[in-house]
Amino acid sequence: MKIGILGTGTVGTTIASALIKKGHSVMLGSRNRGSEKGRAWVDGMGEGASEGSFPDAANYGEIVFICLNGEHAITALQTLNPSALKEKIFIDITNPLDFSQGMLPQILEAYRSISLAEKIQETLPHSFVVKTLNTVNYKLMVDARDVAGGDHNLFICGNNNEAKEQVKDLLIQNFHWLPQSFVDLGSIAGARTMEGIVPFWVLVYRSIGTPLFNFKIMS
Ligand SMILES: NC(=O)c1ccc[n+]([C@@H]2O[C@H](COP(=O)([O-])OP(=O)(O)OC[C@H]3O[C@@H](n4cnc5c(N)ncnc54)[C@H](OP(=O)(O)O)[C@@H]3O)[C@@H](O)[C@H]2O)c1
Repeated sequence: MKIGILGTGTVGTTIASALIKKGHSVMLGSRNRGSEKGRAWVDGMGEGASEGSFPDAANYGEIVFICLNGEHAITALQTLNPSALKEKIFIDITNPLDFSQGMLPQILEAYRSISLAEKIQETLPHSFVVKTLNTVNYKLMVDARDVAGGDHNLFICGNNNEAKEQVKDLLIQNFHWLPQSFVDLGSIAGARTMEGIVPFWVLVYRSIGTPLFNFKIMS
């Protein structure tokens, strides 16, 4: 499958590299086509890897991962052409975190009454935005077995049910998530809680001393 990745940070390059290893063709997108980070990633990966601008990667992917800095995600996505991205699935992993008050992060003020995922859906009105993976560490994203053999939960939300199923399939087939792991929180408005829980995640990380943990819902 052809996959676009918007974001050249730790999350974007980790997901991009994991997908190349699974045999997919991946374009890594950044602000500038030919960026140093983009070229370095392509040189390290070889066959199947390419780089370009954010619009290049969004147009290229049959499915696109959004791995952008939370504060600047909307600015970056405004460079895309929404009408060229009709019914394309965008997997939103971003967190709108504000670390300006030190190491106790808060949700950025702009996203306290509406989530960043909903703003992304507004920015890409013809596409299907699915939020998931934002509540786990980047290493766990690409191999769920790294915690308890994969026996834990992943939240997912979005307005289109078929798009959510396709995203689940992608994560099950490539990153070892289990079908029973997914907890569907409904429409994209569910992202308010998925983003809101992340400051709590950071405190748990500090308390237990490892980012390799996850939530498990018991009933
Ligand atoms: N680290 C984790 O384990 C983890 C877990 C869950 C969720 N997340 C979330 O995943 C997302 C990605 O995190 P990350 O650490 O990999 O990357 P990041 O450093 O947060 O973001 C990197 C990307 O943001 C773009 N960017 C930065 N400033 C910009 C600006 N002013 N305008 C437009 N684009 C800009 C960069 O563009 P260039 O490529 O052009 O430099 C780059 O592609 C974040 O929202 C983070 O909260 C991270």
